[in-house]
This record gives sequence, C-alpha cells and structure tokens, in this order.
Amino acid sequence: MRPYGADQTVNNQASKKPWGGRFTEPTNALVEAFTESISFDSRLYKQDIRGSIAHSKMLAKIGVITTEEALSIESGLLEIQEQINAGQFSWSTELEDVHMNIEARLTDAIGEAGKKLHTGRSRNDQVATDIRLYMRESVDDIVSLIEGLQKNVLDLAGQEIDTIMPGFTHLQVAQPISLAHHLLAWNEMFERDAERLADARKRLNVMPLGSAALAGTSFPLDRDMTCELLGFDRPSRNSLDAVSDRDFLIEIASACSLVMMHLSRMCEEIILWASESYKFIEIGDAFCTGSSIMPQKKNPDIAEIVRGKSARVIGNLQALLVLMKSQPLAYNRDNQEDKEPIFDTVDTVARSLQVFAAMVPSISFNRETMYNAALKGYATATDLAEYLVRLNVPFRDAHEIVGSTVHFAIEQNKPLSDLSLDELQSFGAMITEDVYDVLSLEGSVRARDHFGGTAPIRVKEAVDAASIRLKK
Ligand code: ARG
Repeated sequence: MRPYGADQTVNNQASKKPWGGRFTEPTNALVEAFTESISFDSRLYKQDIRGSIAHSKMLAKIGVITTEEALSIESGLLEIQEQINAGQFSWSTELEDVHMNIEARLTDAIGEAGKKLHTGRSRNDQVATDIRLYMRESVDDIVSLIEGLQKNVLDLAGQEIDTIMPGFTHLQVAQPISLAHHLLAWNEMFERDAERLADARKRLNVMPLGSAALAGTSFPLDRDMTCELLGFDRPSRNSLDAVSDRDFLIEIASACSLVMMHLSRMCEEIILWASESYKFIEIGDAFCTGSSIMPQKKNPDIAEIVRGKSARVIGNLQALLVLMKSQPLAYNRDNQEDKEPIFDTVDTVARSLQVFAAMVPSISFNRETMYNAALKGYATATDLAEYLVRLNVPFRDAHEIVGSTVHFAIEQNKPLSDLSLDELQSFGAMITEDVYDVLSLEGSVRARDHFGGTAPIRVKEAVDAASIRLKK
C-alpha cells in the first residue's frame, strides 16, 4: 500500500491515478469533482478507441510492443466499446476522463499489454486527436443536414417560380419578385455555409497524434501509418501547436454560428409571413403549437425556438474564442473547457437543421395574398422610372416624375396600373399606352431578365443550376 493516509473515504481509489507515483496525498474530493471531464467527454469513446487501436498497431509495427500485445489491446478495446455501446460500462470520476477510464479498464481486462498502450503518447495529443476525429464526423453530418434542407427549399422553389410576392427593403414593399427567387436567396446562404464547413474540415483533418505531451517522443513513431489508419490528410507539422491550438473548433463554431444566423433570418421571415397581418404562408399543424389560453392561436414555435437557439451557438463561439485567447504554448488544462461549448454547438445546429428542414415542406403559400401585397406598395414605381429612361428622360428627372405620380396615386388610393393614360401623361407627356406592360407585376418581374435577376425564366435556370450543384 502506498502511504495515502488514513482518510480513505476522501478517495479510496487514489491508487488508480496514473500519476500516483509522484504523489503522497490523495486528490481532494472537491478537486476531483471539479477537474473531471468524464461527465462530458465520455462521448469521445469511439474516437478514443479508434485512435488507441491505430496507435497500438503502429507501436507493434515499429517493434515497441509485440504483435500479440497489439492484438490483445485491439480486442480488449473493441470489447470495451461493445460494453459502452450496450450501456454496461460504468464511468468513474476518479479516473477523470474518457482516456484514463478506457485505459484503466483495458489494463484490468488484458493485464500487462494494456499498460504499454500509452507508450509514446500523452493525453494531450490523444484528446487533440479524439476531438478532431469527432468533429470531422460532426462536420460531415451537419453538411449533409444542410444539403437535406437545401433540397427541400429547392423543391419549394421549383413550385413557386411564377408566384409573385413583394420584395422588401427596410421591410417596406420595394419591388415585385418571384417567390422562388426569394427561396433561392435562402439556398445561396446555405450553400456558402456548407462550403465554409467543408473548408474548415481541411484544416481540421490534420493528425496531432505523435506530438505526445508537447515535444514529441523518443520512440521512432510511424506517424504516416497512424495518419493513414485514422483517415487524416497529414500528420501535424509542429508538436507544440498540435497539442495546444483549438482554432479548428473556433472555425467550426464560427461556421455553425453563421448557419444559425442564417436560420434565424429565415425563421424571422417565416414568423412574419405566418402572422395574421401578413398571411403569406400556412405552416403545417404538425409543426406548430397552440396556446393554453387562447383557443384561436397557432404559433410558429419551431421558427421561434430555432431563432432562439442561434443565441447559444453564437455564445459558444465567443466562449471558445475567449478560452483560446492568451493561452501560452503548449497544452493548458483550460482546453478541457472546449468540449461542452463545441458539443452543444454541433448538437444544437444539427437539431435545428433537422427540424427546420422537416418544417419547410409543410409550408404552403397563399399566392393570392402575396400577389395582392405586391400590388399595394407601388412596387412597380422603379419600372415606371426605367420606362421613362428608355424614352431618353435622365434618370434623376424620371425619379422626380414618378415620385409625383406615386404621390398622386396615393391620394387617389389607386395602384399605379389603375391610373388612366391621361393621368399618367399629366406627369410625363412622353408616356404612351405600352406603359401598362411595365406597370403590371408580371411585366416588372419579367423585365429583370439578366443573370441573377428575378425574371421567371432566369429563376427557373437558377433553380436547375442550384439542384445540379447540390447533387455534385
Ligand atoms: N481532459 C483533458 C482535456 O480535455 C485531457 C487532457 C489532459 N491532459 C493533462 N495533461 N491533464 O483537455
């Protein structure tokens, strides 16, 4: 027995600590509870086991352990993985984190060989490797969830190419647009989000294993071999950097914050559009909730909660930035605090994308209401100005003429297209009968016939092109 002292109740498992040799006192119970990470890093078990198996195979290849030992480590670890999968593994706080829990259980199960697994490795490069493996999967999952949502948005867009709605600036009716054009704007945001995540994945997919605690190891590790086994693009180039920086998590949190920022914008529109004042859309009953007091209410809660959840994801990004800021090289225990915010981030984004994507196809559009709303706000005033410009009126003069015309129409309580030719000519003598082509919503939309514009012909091309890009 080591001289841990009489107070075995404080920590009767003190001898389990791998650093026991250096210590004469057991860990204080408060410290143990404060420093543990098993309560949140146990979710790294698959990555931890995968990394350990690769490491042990490599140790066998370079002759640091025998092939039999490597095989015994591998089967022991796979057995542990089975137990964890089946919920039959009890995690111990005394063993602090996922790495020590698994290693201790392995040694219990297979004996001496288990004690050799940690040769040429530290928890510092181990955790940095585990979290990269974990995040690589999360990023891939999130990208495919984004793509699922894009598919649903594009399906809706395909059905609404000829639907006319008001386009807004300052939330005031500005110009008529195709509803599909609006939906395609959402799609652009998601496409960039997916690109950003794919880009972050490149820098994420670098292997820290072999960096050991900070300085590398005196064993002749074959890092290319572990790299290959773990599917990393390359081993890290600098051991100090590899065990310490979490910038790749910050990039992911940032890309995820942008996803949530975009979702929150769409949520805001959906909430407005579903409101009694707009009545642009109807959200499926399955994606709404009611009020416990007001029987008439049908609330767009999904959109509100997703909008609300954007706050925590954006908050997590700040937490990670501040966590990393000012940390000296190399590994510091501060970095243990990276896990909860990044796990919460990927969980929240994934769940938000999933439910939002499911809600999208349940949305039906009140095409007539949208059309009528576009009729209301003098949305074709710019078309009238551009018509005058084509008749050689300088744009500033045209703007002035149309301003007066709109003022008159407001007084008459009529849309521009209801003004008679005489009335229109009283503001601009050059106006002729063909003006009504540009004053109609259809004419206005049709006229924006250039790449990136809202003419239905262009919008149709854009939907097709976006669908092709999505399938690639
Ligand atoms: N739980 C730790 C973390 O998440 C693992 C690495 C601990 N390393 C150490 N030397 N204490 O960062």
